[in-house]
Amino acid sequence: MTRRKMIYEGKAKIIYEGPDANTVVQYFKDDATAFNGKKHEVIAGKGVLNNRISAHLMTKLEGIGIPTHFIRSINMREQLVRSVEIVPIELVMRNVAAGSLCKRLGLKEGEILRKPLVEFYYKKDELGDPLIGEDHIITFGWADPYELEEMVAMAWRINDYLNGLFSALGLTLVDFKLEFGRIWGEHGELYIVLADEISPDNCRLWDSKTGEKFDKDRFRQDLGDLVEGYQYVAERLGLIPEGGIIKGGSVNEKMMEGLDQIENELAERRRLRDLKPTRPRKA
Ligand SMILES: Nc1ncnc2c1ncn2[C@@H]1O[C@H](COP(=O)(O)OP(=O)(O)OP(=O)(O)O)[C@@H](O)[C@H]1O
Ligand SMILES: [Mg+2]
Repeated sequence: MTRRKMIYEGKAKIIYEGPDANTVVQYFKDDATAFNGKKHEVIAGKGVLNNRISAHLMTKLEGIGIPTHFIRSINMREQLVRSVEIVPIELVMRNVAAGSLCKRLGLKEGEILRKPLVEFYYKKDELGDPLIGEDHIITFGWADPYELEEMVAMAWRINDYLNGLFSALGLTLVDFKLEFGRIWGEHGELYIVLADEISPDNCRLWDSKTGEKFDKDRFRQDLGDLVEGYQYVAERLGLIPEGGIIKGGSVNEKMMEGLDQIENELAERRRLRDLKPTRPRKA
């Protein structure tokens, strides 16, 4: 493999320079972290599953007209994505009370929210990604009102779509975190696209009947094998065969490559549709 320049190493992924200036490569690591990095473990196969699940969900979302950074999978652990300027906020959409919402407001885990709840967090590891309101975003210039409106509108559509998709598979989408990025077009027009990843690392997915958790809470709360949970999600999505592709910590690479190819064909078929411009960039 050719040596590429690393741009950023995060807790779960590494970003490398892409083949051209408009793209970067996302490499999915096996590292699992929780509680702001205080808990850390390397879990064989996690990166492969997240890469696969995220590629699939991004492709599906493109299919309903949500612009995303995803271009195509490169291999088991890597995907080619458009290089974006990350908006420094995390948008969390919640359908059911769990995690920090319960802690903050004293809610019981599992309480169905009267209406899905949109929350914002400032992306700043040193501060522990604090909860913020829309006014903070505008006042501190992290996004302008047009961008904010667009991100929130996309999040609602994504929630509707993913809720349907997962509930048909017997899974409840409890909540999820989104990141967005800016891309400027040839004529200086700005596009807001969905970036980062959508995987069981940043979604909560529960079995609709039993409430069993298949997401990163397995790791956070020591509820059992993390990879087993992620494999279960991938299986239900039809991305890997029943019985999984990771056994005893080793990945069936041959099978995984074949599956990647299928995903790429899907992505190829949708072609890179023209992005819908939002507003001209200020001079
Ligand atoms: N298309 C993209 N172009 C540029 N950067 C991206 C893109 N998609 C995601 N990123 C950024 O790359 C990093 C991915 O790494 P990772 O998810 O491991 O980060 P992290 O440890 O969670 O830290 P962070 O708090 O920065 O998200 C994130 O900072 C994310 O915002
Ligand atoms: Mg991240």
